[in-house]
Amino acid sequence: MKRGVAGLNETLIGLPGSRAQLETPALLLDAERFETSLDRLAQLARLSGMGLRPHAKSHKCAAIAERQMAAGALGIACAKTGELLALFEAGLTKLMLTAPVSSRLKIDRLTAAAARGLELIVVVDRLELVAAFGASARAAGTHVAVLVDCDTGLGRTGVTAAEEAVALARAIATEAGLVYAGVQAYAGKVQHVFDHQERRAANHLANAALTPILVGLRAAGLAPEIVSGGGTGSHLLDFEDGILTEVQAGSYVLMDEGYRPVDVHGTGEPVFDFAMLVLVSVIGHSANGEAITDGGSKSFAVDGPPPRVYRDGVEIGTIAWAGDEFGRVKTYDGIAPPPAGARLECTVPHCDPTANLHDFIHVVRGERLEAIWPIEARGLSD
Ligand SMILES: Cc1ncc(COP(=O)(O)O)c(C=O)c1O
Repeated sequence: MKRGVAGLNETLIGLPGSRAQLETPALLLDAERFETSLDRLAQLARLSGMGLRPHAKSHKCAAIAERQMAAGALGIACAKTGELLALFEAGLTKLMLTAPVSSRLKIDRLTAAAARGLELIVVVDRLELVAAFGASARAAGTHVAVLVDCDTGLGRTGVTAAEEAVALARAIATEAGLVYAGVQAYAGKVQHVFDHQERRAANHLANAALTPILVGLRAAGLAPEIVSGGGTGSHLLDFEDGILTEVQAGSYVLMDEGYRPVDVHGTGEPVFDFAMLVLVSVIGHSANGEAITDGGSKSFAVDGPPPRVYRDGVEIGTIAWAGDEFGRVKTYDGIAPPPAGARLECTVPHCDPTANLHDFIHVVRGERLEAIWPIEARGLSD
């Protein structure tokens, strides 16, 4: 039997009306919205001749990653070693680690997986990592593809100067056990710029910082095959610009309140719907009559705007936090507080850390619970 509410909900799979009967708090994936977003970005990428390497940091779930692969992804991006290895053990074989690693033990775990069939791409931002990955790959009897990590304004990891990128690329290309594959430049500060034109300007700035690096690499005979970056907020701009060869969008298949104000295509219309929801129940009412739910900061990551609350498909208010385990429904004017026992579907403030709080995601289609998928990499932020 599965842990937690998933164990109780398992018996409901496939039953008519099961979505409304689920035990809570339960993480939901609205299958229709998920598939629409999955197909929409896949199709846009195809039309633009661009690659997609969706980022699994948002969902940490092998079943979702498999569907992204089936929709044409080149591979799956991962933020951390633990997340990547969990997805490999769950059957994904084309995985890219988008952050440098400083531990030799972790590097050895990665190359050991490569020796067992993982098609691994990693990023490096300093020479010592080239040596460490090279030695580890040779010891494991395998090869690892390596990108030069570039900082185009995010201020996290990565080199900023063309000479540094060329030196790293040259070192990778000459290190036995490593294959030089290109560069990564993730413009993280661009993604959540609300206004499309402002985001376009910010993306141009990031690309302008990348251009001399690409020019330097080409001049040195180290033209990058892969130029990886971008996300949900910038994907259309990246498709237009054609500087990247692939986009690492993550949130698009789930969506959250943090992304809601971002005018993703500049049309004023939402492009990706809220496929990730948390289902909560009203457990009682406060002295002033507000409905109290069974979902607080242990069911929702709270680093974003408050969830919006739906009852029977109608938006009735928002959630204010009432403790780690509880929420307080702030109903809109003229709407009565929902009664005890009512099930409420809530959007999430931030999808990535919300997925990290749950062992399972309940896949719902229309009125039915269709499946329950494990979130294999949840809790693995090592
Ligand atoms: C390196 C990298 N690539 C891609 C993404 C995906 O971004 P988004 O969820 O905005 O699509 C992230 C998100 O933080 C990231 O860190």
